[in-house]
Amino acid sequence: MAQQEVREGWRTGFGFILAAAGSAIGLGNIWRFPYITGQHGGAAFVLIYLLCVALIGLPVMLCEISLGRHTGRNPVGAFRKLNPSSCLLAHLFGAGIALCGVMALLMKSWGWGGLLLLIGVLIFKYRWTLVGVMGVVAGFVILSFYSVVAGWTIGYVFKAATGQLAFETMEAANASFVGFIGHPGWAILCHFLFMALCVVIVCRGIRGGIEKVSKLLMPVLLGLILMLIVRGLTLPEAREGVRYYLSPDFSKITPQCILQALGLAFFSLSLGMGAMITYGSYVSKGQNLFKSTLAIVGLDVLIAFLAGLAIFPAVFALGFKPDVGAGLAFVALPAVFNQMPQGLLWAFVFFLLLLVAALTSGISLLEVVVAYWVDERGWTRKKATLVFGGCIFALGCLCAASVMDWTHIQPVQRALTTMFGRTKDSFFDTMEVVSDWMLSLGGLLIALFVGWIWGVRRATNEIRQGSENFADVHLWSVLAGLKDDPSHNSDVHVITLASVWGVFVRFICPVAIVIAFLNTIGWLELKGPETIPEPEPAAIELEAETEAP
Ligand code: TRP
Repeated sequence: MAQQEVREGWRTGFGFILAAAGSAIGLGNIWRFPYITGQHGGAAFVLIYLLCVALIGLPVMLCEISLGRHTGRNPVGAFRKLNPSSCLLAHLFGAGIALCGVMALLMKSWGWGGLLLLIGVLIFKYRWTLVGVMGVVAGFVILSFYSVVAGWTIGYVFKAATGQLAFETMEAANASFVGFIGHPGWAILCHFLFMALCVVIVCRGIRGGIEKVSKLLMPVLLGLILMLIVRGLTLPEAREGVRYYLSPDFSKITPQCILQALGLAFFSLSLGMGAMITYGSYVSKGQNLFKSTLAIVGLDVLIAFLAGLAIFPAVFALGFKPDVGAGLAFVALPAVFNQMPQGLLWAFVFFLLLLVAALTSGISLLEVVVAYWVDERGWTRKKATLVFGGCIFALGCLCAASVMDWTHIQPVQRALTTMFGRTKDSFFDTMEVVSDWMLSLGGLLIALFVGWIWGVRRATNEIRQGSENFADVHLWSVLAGLKDDPSHNSDVHVITLASVWGVFVRFICPVAIVIAFLNTIGWLELKGPETIPEPEPAAIELEAETEAP
């Protein structure tokens, strides 16, 4: 059971912000964000992404951090501490899912039936604590494939250093990439190296491990990315790429891509699985949670934006196309760099950047799992890190062995097909899809829990500690910089940061996430011609007008 020894915390508030930003800034920003932006026509997608981050990501992040600091626990402990002793909603929901499970069993769908029955019973019994459990499980699942991709970056850093990335064409780069990731031996070796790095850092604890490494690596990351930007922008013809990246073309915006932006925002901000609950649990009561959240989100968006600025000008300048999809970083960029003077050096810098970003995120994923075993089960940090680092490594080996198809692990595919009827294209894809589900569902439940169960009032009381009068001054006065002006400090204000946040957490975020979730699981297919208007017409028109000549 929970042990209440003195719990380690961040050394400084700044250390927390860097560590949390380190968790947020990762492959999501530097690998996924640019390629998805490239597929969706550049600037317009960037704007939508910013809206999703500001309107949905930011409020949910504040939920997670305040939950964490209030309870001082890992996700499971946090929900357990605040779990209401009875919750009609949870009982109904659990019973409903269990019933679905029974029906599925009757229809001889053993895998789904068993799974639903189990989940239903667990919800019935444990109620909201299960949200935390799902977070810990998601940590396993995400890190298992995340660390495989991060392993590729280790491989590519090595290849760049030894001169193996000189490709004349994209076809050659692609053949080499496919050969590399399709070779389980290499993929597993690199995956092992990455997991070993994570384990070593997490073993050393919060201050001596995670905080120290973040303080060291985040400036390195910024330095690397700035180097790449300067290089990219000084290429002849770089302007084309900058224009593509900064001039929005709203005809490319579809409902589908808004949802993708929301999913990306969640993944990129490390939301939906309690990573921020865990990091928040090490924060001191004197910290201003509003400002910290803003800083973390701001840094995350900044780095994503800079990553695009580092990549697109170079891609355009050297005559490549931006819409090549997931292979942008590993296939197109090596070919792009090869055309530059000292291309291998730049490739090295780029993959090192990816690796640094992935490392600070990987440790946050592992920390969620470790914190649970340390807080709730009384394990030592070292034992928990080694054991679960090992388990995640094992699960990741399956991902590494099955990135594109099932050839290397056919028995696993057979088992999964027998249970669930069909499978995705590979084990890697399966893990990715499962984690998408878990993150959206987790984000939804966290917002609902804070908004309706724990309550915005109690959450605000937590946030008030260390936040001066941020929560209670009229929002307009805060924005205007008149927060501390005596004439702006009456206590009759209704529109405050706290009240606006409450409305978002209770209504706007859950609705938006439900729509995105139904789309993720394929129950709602929002499709349309490319010109379907987007749901923020006012903002868009404004932008479009300023764009018009
Ligand atoms: N945010 C990281 C990225 O952008 C990935 C990540 C780390 C993450 N921890 C997480 C995603 C927790 C979801 C939840 O690459």
